[in-house]
Amino acid sequence: MERQPADFRSDTVTQPTPRMLEAMVSAKVGDDVLGDDPTVAELERCFADLFGKEAALFMPSGTMANQTAVAAHTVPGEEIIVDAGAHIFQFEGGGLSRVAGVHLRTLDTENGQFSFGSLARSIRPISEHMPRTGMICTEQSHLFSGGTIVPIDYLEEVYGLAHHHGLVVHMDGARLFNAQAETGVDFADYGKFCDSLMISLSKGLSCPVGSILMGDGSFIERSRRIRKWLGGGMRQAGYLAACGLVALDETAPMLAEDNARCRRLGGAILGINGVRMAQTTIDTNILFLEITAPGLDAPMVEAALADEGILTLALGERLLRFVTHRHITDADLDRAVSALQSVLKA
Ligand SMILES: Cc1ncc(COP(=O)(O)O)c(C=O)c1O
Repeated sequence: MERQPADFRSDTVTQPTPRMLEAMVSAKVGDDVLGDDPTVAELERCFADLFGKEAALFMPSGTMANQTAVAAHTVPGEEIIVDAGAHIFQFEGGGLSRVAGVHLRTLDTENGQFSFGSLARSIRPISEHMPRTGMICTEQSHLFSGGTIVPIDYLEEVYGLAHHHGLVVHMDGARLFNAQAETGVDFADYGKFCDSLMISLSKGLSCPVGSILMGDGSFIERSRRIRKWLGGGMRQAGYLAACGLVALDETAPMLAEDNARCRRLGGAILGINGVRMAQTTIDTNILFLEITAPGLDAPMVEAALADEGILTLALGERLLRFVTHRHITDADLDRAVSALQSVLKA
């Protein structure tokens, strides 16, 4: 029998658990666009309560949730401050300029953290000649620096600075649950230091589809309207929301294991010639490697590993990404390490 490839490309490849599939079959549903799907309502209530927010909205994707949040918080022409490596800026198809019509001010960060000096300097003075600064975006965990955890005291300071200047903060918390599995910080504390946040259900939490957007009641009301004009209203969405309720109980507690496996993978790769870690720490489930072997680049290594049954993602010429999730076993880590050794030696 042919062995299944070990798929390290992303935690978005995770499939629903048997419990999720059962929950889908028995979910009570209604027409959520008409506001009467009880399972969606329950999921939204659960998340809003967990994060100490007034309200929540079930969204088809993290991208739509992020875009909606910016559109709901701003008016066209306002400037928003984002990390130059943030998903919302780099990987959402430039959507913010269309969906929200905002002006983007990008700042370099260290592991997802702006320097407070540059953050403060980038907030515009009131002037008819300049755009008005409207909001700041943070990301937890920070994808581009390798799933780095953004500390809660830093988030508190950003929130304080933003509010001092009358700005709002949105957090892209696509993988916040992976970070929380390490920090143990109360979810409500994460909720306290942002005006809105988005959680992905379809990554390490293993749901097939969906994200949750949270904030105060009027923000969620505006977001519901924006979701409608984006075509993101879903009818019997309770079948999907049912998986999110299972995730809180079943897959959320598994994320610490995914994080630990990623650290184990990083440790094993450290000794291999021709590759080095392209990040300072492995906090959660993401590992970026830099290919340094002469004559090889990341797409070549990606293709050679795929031939050995190890799926990874090349990002540009040098970077290769590994993401651990609940389908990656210890045996898969061993396979990945030995495949990498043989590809780099060849
Ligand atoms: C940090 C981060 N934010 C947002 C998203 C967007 O989520 P989705 O793929 O559900 O649109 C992703 C997806 O990979 C992500 O990694």
